Amino acid sequence: MKKIVVLTGAGISAESGISTFRDANGLWENHDIMEVASIEGWNANPQLVLDFYNVRRAQLKSVKPNSAHYFLANLDSNHDVTIITQNVDDLHERGGSSKIIHLHGELNKVRSVRNDEVTFDCTENIFLGDLAKDGGQLRPHIVWFGEMVPMMDAAIEETLQADIFIIIGTSLQVYPAASLLDYTKTDAKVICIDPNELPINNNVIHIKKSATEGVNDLVQYIK
Ligand code: APR
Repeated sequence: MKKIVVLTGAGISAESGISTFRDANGLWENHDIMEVASIEGWNANPQLVLDFYNVRRAQLKSVKPNSAHYFLANLDSNHDVTIITQNVDDLHERGGSSKIIHLHGELNKVRSVRNDEVTFDCTENIFLGDLAKDGGQLRPHIVWFGEMVPMMDAAIEETLQADIFIIIGTSLQVYPAASLLDYTKTDAKVICIDPNELPINNNVIHIKKSATEGVNDLVQYIK
């Protein structure tokens, strides 16, 4: 059975109505990335950061997985599939994928500032003064700029074994996630689905379509 590893980014959720980060009027255009998604921003103005993620968490209730999420989940039935996502939404889970590594955390999880290991499910807003049992302020379980990416080793482990490495909807501008491409086996088939140009070499098969259209072209490569 072929091992398939899929690296996804904001582009796979774009057609579900969640804005990407770097496309025109993307998420960051309305915010200073360092104010709302960095450890310095958290220390400077934690309520602004909590509000930013409260809005994004609430938005999850009004969006649904799209056919690209469902396509990947259907691959589970006769392939060994691992999804490595940079997205913090729950659309891969709701689409039915079973093996998902969230490199940058999850919107529907929070944790105490005193303990990185223990997370709590949370689909509601959190505010300053909302404390965990250990007395620490609750914070989003999100990897902010300037923080370590704890799931990176697990992601590399999966990528090293991939027979087929598929990249969907990421600009490959953020590290270490983007470096996963360097861990693919020399004989792995690497396919990218993105309507725009990307910093990839010509060993990569580039399907220049949206995620929902492009996944249908994958069939020929996955046999
Ligand atoms: N289908 C497929 N790809 C799309 C679509 C679509 N419908 N729409 C846009 N894209 C592509 C864009 O061309 C771009 O290459 O999705 C990519 C989105 O790139 P970014 O906005 O940079 O998002 P991403 O790569 O996921 O960002 C990585 O950066 O800000 C941090 O933590 C944040 O996880 C995020 C990380």
